[in-house]
Amino acid sequence: MTDLDSTRPALLGADLSRTYRLPRRSPFEPGAIRTAVDGVDLVVPTGARLGIVGESGSGKSTLVRLLAGLEAPSTGTVHASGRPVDARASAVSSRWFRRETGIVFQDPVASLDPRMRVGAIVAEPLRALRVEGDHRAMVAAVLERVDLPADAADRYPHEFSGGQRQRIAIARAVVHRPRILFGDEPMSALDVVVRARVIDLFRSFVDDLGATLVLVSHDIGVVQRLCDTVAVMSAGRIVEHGPVSLLDAPTHEVTRALVAAAPTLP
Ligand SMILES: Nc1ncnc2c1ncn2[C@@H]1O[C@H](COP(=O)(O)OP(=O)(O)O)[C@@H](O)[C@H]1O
Ligand SMILES: [Mg+2]
Repeated sequence: MTDLDSTRPALLGADLSRTYRLPRRSPFEPGAIRTAVDGVDLVVPTGARLGIVGESGSGKSTLVRLLAGLEAPSTGTVHASGRPVDARASAVSSRWFRRETGIVFQDPVASLDPRMRVGAIVAEPLRALRVEGDHRAMVAAVLERVDLPADAADRYPHEFSGGQRQRIAIARAVVHRPRILFGDEPMSALDVVVRARVIDLFRSFVDDLGATLVLVSHDIGVVQRLCDTVAVMSAGRIVEHGPVSLLDAPTHEVTRALVAAAPTLP
């Protein structure tokens, strides 16, 4: 464990920007610059459940990669419980932060190594993060929590359905008991029934771990079910940020458009 200050915000992003240079269209011109995240200030208090919504291309995934230390910002800083997060740090010096965090992405097929057995996939963070204890038992316990069959650890990802694979990805994200859980559209590739189960799993793990949640979703209903606060992004900026109830009576035009476009959930 690290000497993190739990009275500090779980995550603090200050003046975060991320630009990308697009491929050049001709050898005589430099590639254009695309600003994916544009001067975002964001405080995520410890224990908060933040949903990030916004139209496609508004910068949600980029912001999450910056907050999760997967990518370095072009400007600005990220702090976790008061400690600077450096995406360029070595595996050893960033281990404290990896230990604190777990991430689930949209596509469970792309995020699971097809050549590894499920048990090894889920155990990997325990090994990489030098977590103490009986890894085999920890893996078995978490696979059971996500409702996978008892022999799942010995099988390969392709032997499972899309929903089961996303549950494997969740198991891997939480096996080391992180205090911050990130999701980038973790339910989007799933059909409605499976999605509901995955939402429940997310909630139960966040509850159990007492974790802070940062969840990107273009699905307003998912955010309403899982989050207590919401940040609305447009063109790389946060245009509205507040209690999730603001989605019930949106005022900002971007938020209004998102809510109007959302399918009504049963
Ligand atoms: N690696 C990259 N290279 C170039 N452009 C990128 C890259 N990642 C994201 N972008 C661009 O940045 C903008 C924001 O993308 P993204 O964060 O993926 O948005 P969202 O998740 O809200 O759909 C988009 O215009 C996207 O094309
Ligand atoms: Mg995205």
